[in-house]
Amino acid sequence: MSSIDKHTLNNEVNRRRTFAIISHPDAGKTTMTEKLLLLGGAIRLAGSVKAKKSKKFATSDWMELEKQRGISVSTSVMNFEYRNVVCNLLDTPGHQDFSEDTYRTLAAADAAIMLIDAAKGVEAQTIKLFEVCKLRGIPIFTFVNKLDRESQDPLDLMHEIESVLNIATYPMNWPVSSGERFKGIIERESKCLHFFEGRNTTTETVAKIIPLSDKVQIEQCVPADLLSGALDGLEMVEMAGDAFSHEKFLKGQLSPVFFGAAMTNFGVRLFLEKFLDMSPPPSSKGSSEGKIDPFSTQFSGFIFKIQANMDPKHRDRIAFLRIVSGAYEVGLNVKVPRLNREIRLTHPQQFFAQDRSTLEKAYAGDVVGIYDPGIFAIGDSLVENGDFVFEGIPAFAPENFAVVRTTSALKRKQLLKGLVQLCQEGTVQMFVDESRAASDPILAAVGVLQFDVLLFRLKNEYNVECSLENLSFKHARWTNASIDDIARAKEQTDVVSVRDMQGCYLFLFKNDFSLSYFQEKCPYIRLFSSNSSL
Ligand code: G4P
Repeated sequence: MSSIDKHTLNNEVNRRRTFAIISHPDAGKTTMTEKLLLLGGAIRLAGSVKAKKSKKFATSDWMELEKQRGISVSTSVMNFEYRNVVCNLLDTPGHQDFSEDTYRTLAAADAAIMLIDAAKGVEAQTIKLFEVCKLRGIPIFTFVNKLDRESQDPLDLMHEIESVLNIATYPMNWPVSSGERFKGIIERESKCLHFFEGRNTTTETVAKIIPLSDKVQIEQCVPADLLSGALDGLEMVEMAGDAFSHEKFLKGQLSPVFFGAAMTNFGVRLFLEKFLDMSPPPSSKGSSEGKIDPFSTQFSGFIFKIQANMDPKHRDRIAFLRIVSGAYEVGLNVKVPRLNREIRLTHPQQFFAQDRSTLEKAYAGDVVGIYDPGIFAIGDSLVENGDFVFEGIPAFAPENFAVVRTTSALKRKQLLKGLVQLCQEGTVQMFVDESRAASDPILAAVGVLQFDVLLFRLKNEYNVECSLENLSFKHARWTNASIDDIARAKEQTDVVSVRDMQGCYLFLFKNDFSLSYFQEKCPYIRLFSSNSSL
């Protein structure tokens, strides 16, 4: 039992905000992360986040893969305090092939910031990640970035967000032109112009704030045609746009939209201030025993990510735990219901990108890293009292399938061990075709680069050199059909059925045609593209 009193617990949980940034690669996620960390005083120099990444590439052989590919594979957690609020910013990989990692990370977030490039609008990866946020029903903030570059018309952007993503929007501010003629943003609430004076990429300049009623100053700063263009746009929004509804916002049905240019530090502080006013504290989470209240004094949490070899010298495995309720103190004993086993949390770690420090106390909403001696799986619950488990973390339908083979028969056992552990970590998904005894497990991935990571890690961590044989499947769909119905469907079509590591059934299809043929032939079978709906 924790020694932390209820009053302290309530205060600490209430002042936590745990969120992730989602975006299509290149929209400015790294830049935005860095500016938020600068505002929170967690770093002092712009460029630190990128510099930190490249330094680690040079020293870590695991990160070697990222270096070769020039992309970020791992997800980390960054903490900073702003206005007495503890912010846990969950970083997600930018490359779409690692979106499974991002999906899992979103399971640990209470809110998301959707970053959109003002010139490109809603892009493919934004749509996929947005869908996951919607599935979870978490509040989504939108930040339209890069206004200092030639951008789309803001009304068109609003329309695109609403029609493509099917979410209502409420612009909190409105841009005055873009690119070379960008003059800043008009804040709707205060009716003030935040004047964009120029580019400053390193330190923060405080924008000049001019009330729209101060006609003299406004005229000095903004050419009349740009001002009237922006005011016309705003009027349209006031007349035809949605009214703000806090309830809809909390359910993820309405997104407040902010404009800015993260690289030039413009609009970021204004955004952060509003974000902290509006975003919710840690929310309750569904479990086998109903909703678990974050303010409960009993500690509980779940593992949403496992990362091996963060420190190549120690070859360790770290499980990232999102605390759902209560507080953690050094030496807390918890139970892992899946394993029916007690463990003592001795040295949980707090992370700042790849750096870590040992943690004395942590509260609901926080994310901590715990040493994993190879026992945890993604989605595991850790509870101080009781036997309940949290709702699982969804897996999404893979589109790439393969088997791996090793030339050395002596290494088969080692290969299997590696595969099981790496699949528990979520590197790829593993399916078994039970109709063919002793056949190799089928490996499946959302993005093909996941296979590269798998081969790289099998060689470096398990000393098994493997080759990959691609299989010609294109789609996988989960089903909750009975065994009899599955057998009937297999008789009617040439579909392949497999089971995942949780024992759930899936069908594998070679192409779009075989999927729609199956749906036509076997209307009694329901198919799901995520296991969350089973
Ligand atoms: P990502 O993590 O989402 O992939 O994007 P990242 O922050 O790396 O930004 C992608 C590129 O967009 C970077 O340029 C970055 O400087 C630029 N960028 C981000 N925000 C803004 C903005 O508000 N205005 C403008 N004009 N550019 C922005 P790069 O040339 O690819 O990299 P770098 O040489 O600047 O590091």
